[in-house]
Amino acid sequence: MTDELEHLLSLASKNIRPSPIREMLHMVRQPGMISFAGGMPDPEIFPVEQFQEAASVISREGKDILQYGTTEGYPPLKEFIAEWTIPRMGRKLTPEEILITTGSSQIIDLLCWALVDRGDYVICEEPTFLGATGTMFNHGARFLTVTCDENGMLVDSLPGIIEKAIAEGGKIKFIYTIVNFHNPLGCDLSLERRIKLLEIAKKYGILILEDDPYGYVRFEGEEIPSVFSLDREGLVLYACSFSKILAPGTRVGWCAGRENIIRKMAIFKQGTDTCTSVVVQAMVWEYCRLGYLESFLPKIINHYRDKRDQMEKAFQAYLPVDKVSWLKPKGGFFYWMTTPGIMAGKLFEKAIEKKIAFVTGNAFYPTGSGGEHNFRMCYTFASPEMTDIGIKRLGEAILESE
Ligand SMILES: Cc1ncc(COP(=O)(O)O)c(C=O)c1O
Repeated sequence: MTDELEHLLSLASKNIRPSPIREMLHMVRQPGMISFAGGMPDPEIFPVEQFQEAASVISREGKDILQYGTTEGYPPLKEFIAEWTIPRMGRKLTPEEILITTGSSQIIDLLCWALVDRGDYVICEEPTFLGATGTMFNHGARFLTVTCDENGMLVDSLPGIIEKAIAEGGKIKFIYTIVNFHNPLGCDLSLERRIKLLEIAKKYGILILEDDPYGYVRFEGEEIPSVFSLDREGLVLYACSFSKILAPGTRVGWCAGRENIIRKMAIFKQGTDTCTSVVVQAMVWEYCRLGYLESFLPKIINHYRDKRDQMEKAFQAYLPVDKVSWLKPKGGFFYWMTTPGIMAGKLFEKAIEKKIAFVTGNAFYPTGSGGEHNFRMCYTFASPEMTDIGIKRLGEAILESE
């Protein structure tokens, strides 16, 4: 749009917040750069042949799946999800409780449409997934933030935060939490805290958005019951995705929650994209029906466990442990690094000179301050050779950044 047409821009568009990671990825795409920045799956593990086999659903169901579909999602895929998720959800979901979405990113957008008026509050962990807070921000949400430790958000601080905001006339609509292998922290929200979180949500009448794209990528440790499965009041909207357990290019996610919220979200979705591609939903369903979701998941888990271990080994070999610390994640995609004596921004400049990239911690702080001594490393994408070279360079960059 030329400058003369600037006056046509909406207020939302004038205030829109581009993702710092997207901006950073331009820099990262230089030739020779080793990137640990984007949270991307390893293309080497994509089940290309199996997905191609699943595409044969077009010859069998083509007359149906090349048509417009229902906004709520392709019924056979919803039925598969309802069955497959019984252990995680604690019971079988009804079709009315499920909405298939265009990636799980869309769930955040649709929930904001359904709940958030400009100026309303959303409670977030700090740090948190910036894709989510970017979307919330674009809906005019304001943020209340909760600090985290290695067991997730410090839920005991929630009542104080909530009561202060209410006393000041604020409206709090939902609590956003990434329960398993947090992005960017890599930690789980403990069972004890999940139970407390629900009690608090119930006491104050606030919804919980339980975002769980990494929960099925667990390398070790006991699975913790989902907040959804612990909930008796219908206060939880559970969000999941095929992005990390099949491939993000499918852009198929799903959510489950109380019927009236799902219905509202579906109406907003109708106005956004009518429905998620029926062809792709059918291909994902066929892939699942043929048993590939089940048979490939252990391969994905083993592959990423190896990659995590390989990065851990490189950390031990090349990083100055008096200057940087980290917690080994039990699943998911990320390491969260802490450099008490070094500003992550300065380290990032040094790292780019040496042709390696990560995401600086401040990008994950929705209120704009914090994370100055942190950065996120994704271990799933880079090859083992590149990881080794890259971490060696990271060690040098840390030493040169003091
Ligand atoms: C915590 C979290 N939620 C949601 C998403 C969105 O995933 P998608 O839209 O690909 O399903 C991501 C992607 O990285 C994520 O890290």
